[in-house]
Amino acid sequence: FSYPEPALQKELKTTAEAIVAPGKGILAVDETNEGIGKLLAAVGLQNTENNRRRYRQLLFTTDNLSEHVSATILFDETVYQKTDDGTPFIELLKKKNIIPGIKVDLDAVPLFLSLDEVTTQGLDNLATRCAEYKKQGCRFAKWRCPLKIGEHTPSVQAINNTAQVLARYASICQSQGLVPIVEPDVLLDGDHDIVRNQKVSEQALAAVYKALNDHHVFLEGTLLKPNMEIATATVTALLRTVPAAVPGIAFLSGGLSEEEASIYLNAINRVSLKRPWALTFSYGRALQASVWKTWAGKDVNTKAAQLELLKRTKANGLASLGKYEG
Ligand code: 13P
Repeated sequence: FSYPEPALQKELKTTAEAIVAPGKGILAVDETNEGIGKLLAAVGLQNTENNRRRYRQLLFTTDNLSEHVSATILFDETVYQKTDDGTPFIELLKKKNIIPGIKVDLDAVPLFLSLDEVTTQGLDNLATRCAEYKKQGCRFAKWRCPLKIGEHTPSVQAINNTAQVLARYASICQSQGLVPIVEPDVLLDGDHDIVRNQKVSEQALAAVYKALNDHHVFLEGTLLKPNMEIATATVTALLRTVPAAVPGIAFLSGGLSEEEASIYLNAINRVSLKRPWALTFSYGRALQASVWKTWAGKDVNTKAAQLELLKRTKANGLASLGKYEG
């Protein structure tokens, strides 16, 4: 038997399709405590559990957030946090028809004797952690593996390792009823050209889908979260490597500005190439930069900051349909 049982297939497929429903995408707020600490420091706040909660409460209590946001990626701590009035964040999100998900990788560590490359840890006990998150109400997970382009990288060692780690992660998630978002992130950093980026993306994705197949991962119940570049190159690389059985591809913003990320996604949805999957957003920084700036750590700015969030989610919702005018 090399497929999940029919009821599990149905559950995974339904969740994956709901996350990439037309005109909607993912709000990624899975910064680690260290990561969000830098953002809090920039607005003069200490990195305390309560300040991290206050900021995320601002995001989740935004009225009409679900108009263009189908799902949100949480960090472990956030799963257990509540609003000021004691409502668990997960309950609030569910009421708003936003699907909660969870970052389950435990970040990158050096890959010994590689060309200064990394692997991502967190597979030990992953099934137990997934079962707990499922119990708490999460319905999907995400795991990011960065690949760096250099003169001789990514190496075969790094590409194969990334593919194996992502496939093992995806298989464990599905065993616990969570849709895995598979994130091989070919970093934009470096002075390589678009042809090189496209080729490396194709090599990485081809290895990832071979490994997913080897691990019997049910593709209809997965999503891909890749890097994006110039539209034609991005869609060409995806067409050559990502099976049409995958319901959707939700891009990471990878350091692009908010406006660039919307323009890129819009262009991707307008290229005259086949597009058998939904192509949408799963942005962290490109949905939150203006929110942070406007909030500036002050409650009086909450409403204005929420309007900034809605502005970005609307822009990207339209871009996911190729209808963003800028
Ligand atoms: P950015 O959109 O900020 O690159 O975040 C990507 C990510 O993986 C967050 O889940």
